[in-house]
Amino acid sequence: MTDDSLRRELLDLRAEIEAHNHRYYVLDEPAVSDAQYDRLMNRLQEIEQEHPDWVTPDSPTQRVGASPSGHFAPVRHAVRMLSLGNAFEDQDIQAFDDRVTAILAESGLLNEPGHGAVTADCLVPDEPEPPASGDADELRRKAPIPGVDYVAEYKFDGLAVNLRYEQGHLVQAATRGDGSEGEDITANIRTLRSVPLRLRGDAAPAVLEVRGEVLMTRADFARLNEQQLSRGDKPFVNPRNAAAGSLRQLDPRVTAARPLRFYAYGWGQIRDAAGRDLQPQATHAAMLDWLAAFGFAVSPGRRRCRGAAQLLRFYASVGSERSGLPYDIDGVVYKVNDLRAQEVLGFVARAPRFAIAHKFPAQEETTRLVGIEVQVGRTGALTPVARLQPVFVGGVTVTNATLHNEDEIHRKDIRIGDTVVVRRAGDVIPEVVGPVLDLRPADALPFDLLAACPVCPVCGSAVERPEGEAITRCTGGLFCPAQRKQTLWHAASRKALDIDGLGDKLIEQLVDGGRVRTLADLYGLTELELSTYPRMGRKSAQNLVQAIDQSRRPPLSRLLYALGIRHVGETTARDVARHFGSMQAIMDASEDQLLQVPDVGPVVAASIRRFFAEAHNREVVAALQAAGVEPQADAAPAGAKPLAGKTLVLTGTLPALTRDEATRRILAAGGKVSGSVSRKTAWVVAGEEAGSKLAKAEELGVAVLDEAGLLKLLEH
Ligand code: IVH
Repeated sequence: MTDDSLRRELLDLRAEIEAHNHRYYVLDEPAVSDAQYDRLMNRLQEIEQEHPDWVTPDSPTQRVGASPSGHFAPVRHAVRMLSLGNAFEDQDIQAFDDRVTAILAESGLLNEPGHGAVTADCLVPDEPEPPASGDADELRRKAPIPGVDYVAEYKFDGLAVNLRYEQGHLVQAATRGDGSEGEDITANIRTLRSVPLRLRGDAAPAVLEVRGEVLMTRADFARLNEQQLSRGDKPFVNPRNAAAGSLRQLDPRVTAARPLRFYAYGWGQIRDAAGRDLQPQATHAAMLDWLAAFGFAVSPGRRRCRGAAQLLRFYASVGSERSGLPYDIDGVVYKVNDLRAQEVLGFVARAPRFAIAHKFPAQEETTRLVGIEVQVGRTGALTPVARLQPVFVGGVTVTNATLHNEDEIHRKDIRIGDTVVVRRAGDVIPEVVGPVLDLRPADALPFDLLAACPVCPVCGSAVERPEGEAITRCTGGLFCPAQRKQTLWHAASRKALDIDGLGDKLIEQLVDGGRVRTLADLYGLTELELSTYPRMGRKSAQNLVQAIDQSRRPPLSRLLYALGIRHVGETTARDVARHFGSMQAIMDASEDQLLQVPDVGPVVAASIRRFFAEAHNREVVAALQAAGVEPQADAAPAGAKPLAGKTLVLTGTLPALTRDEATRRILAAGGKVSGSVSRKTAWVVAGEEAGSKLAKAEELGVAVLDEAGLLKLLEH
């Protein structure tokens, strides 16, 4: 091969590899397999080895170029990196919008035309719109709405960095530091494949500084932690710490092995060849699109909004989708869109007046682990529970948090007396994520479950930890009051016998007083005796007796589930109940017969067998029968409607069906019809002249059908 054609191949390979990086890390649309990608890289390396003089710093092979440096050199930022004011309450956002509105009204910049008016199309998409109906609807959606024009974005929970490009080449990357001076992390940033080493296209200004956040997705974080563990290294506490630790590596080869990503949300210095400052676009939104064209992943989830009410809707909708995002965010950021308006608004202290961060209640906080208590669960599992110095996290004050099990405590090296990170995300039970090792006191105490509990802390029975299991259990079974209480509580729960008014406090008293030993004993309780318990009025006693009475004819599946057999959840209980039809048949079934039930495997079959092999469990069933509890055969699966639980959106004109007819048939099939497309839309049915809804469906990746497709769905 001639040098010329080899050189051609090298340039093609570089372009192809960078295009794949862009597709994978920026567009999130990979086009080749890892193996194919590796083949391209290998071939490029081969050519570059043959011709070392052809290697340039922007070759994809040079992402991990530099050898370990001794330190991170200080970098003075050409334009200061600001931080944002924080707000937590709706009123703060209203006040922010009022302030911005007043200043812009004064300077005549409010609702200036020319920057693309915000219309209803730009809004947060969760607003239920009435079904579209022709022109009036279109007009309403296209009409500009009053109020300041904002861009709302995610507030990424990562690390801010500034990337400096000169003549289109990445020349420096720096941390934010104190805003004026950061640290040079160029060698590490070069290893991020979502950061272009060279800007795409040929319209790059002489100097362009791109600002954004470096972060790790939750999935990448989980994989990294698995790797850390399998190598015997300490896991990271959360994605943010993992990202920070990875960026602060002196050896860029370590950073290269860490799955970091960069998302752009702003810019610093921009200059032309003559050294003049440039403002290439008139709005923040246009600037972000402009940056995207250079090859950056730009603030996904951004939206234009007008006025405080829309900002708050954005906040609420992002708040509810937050746990489904691939990475952590700690709030949202609102920015005035018009850059002239931004300039007029200016800055106070270190934060701009044109932007504000609206934070979610923190999902993680640090506090002191005061002690570890052991509780006994329904199946006898000894569960370590953290006693914490009270801390406000995820919107509530937390004093206890789960530590999962003993192995987990050792794996994370959590010791009593440690300062720990506590996490409470959404409605999830608070958990101790890990210790802050830097703050460990000298007298922090490691935890040893068997030393703390040589026998069951509740009933004194022996404890055992079967080989290969992570759980130590009390062997007391229903002899153990803790297990008895939990079993009753489970049996009364909504998905089991649904006995309203039987709370854990009452169960505690009934069991501790010896009045109730098993589920069957509940059915002997009278109004009179119940009303003697503390906080039990006549009325609540009456209601409870009624609720207990009403639970005497449960579906067989619920009674089976209520028994609390290990590995038998609601679904399994239903499958088994339908298969056998009576409690007697289930009790008498052999393991082989149990295995005949679809979806029942050896573990479940053995567990059911073991449960009914115990005389005391059969006695409970007999006592239930004696108390008049008569399970009913479970109904066969309801003639499931083909579109049950699905939301469809109609757009455009269908060839045969009218809108009304299509809507009627979807409703009859159990589906819903909505006027606007969101991620929750199951299908968009598009006819002729479908417009923005079809585009929206494509953008969100929602499936699109034509009329024939709809008819097929309705048939099933
Ligand atoms: S804009 C002039 N936008 O929040 C405004 N910051 O407290 C400068 N951050 O250090 C920042 N997501 O690390 C902006 N969409 C976003 C952001 C964001 C996260 C971080 C950033 C900054 C801090 C400001």
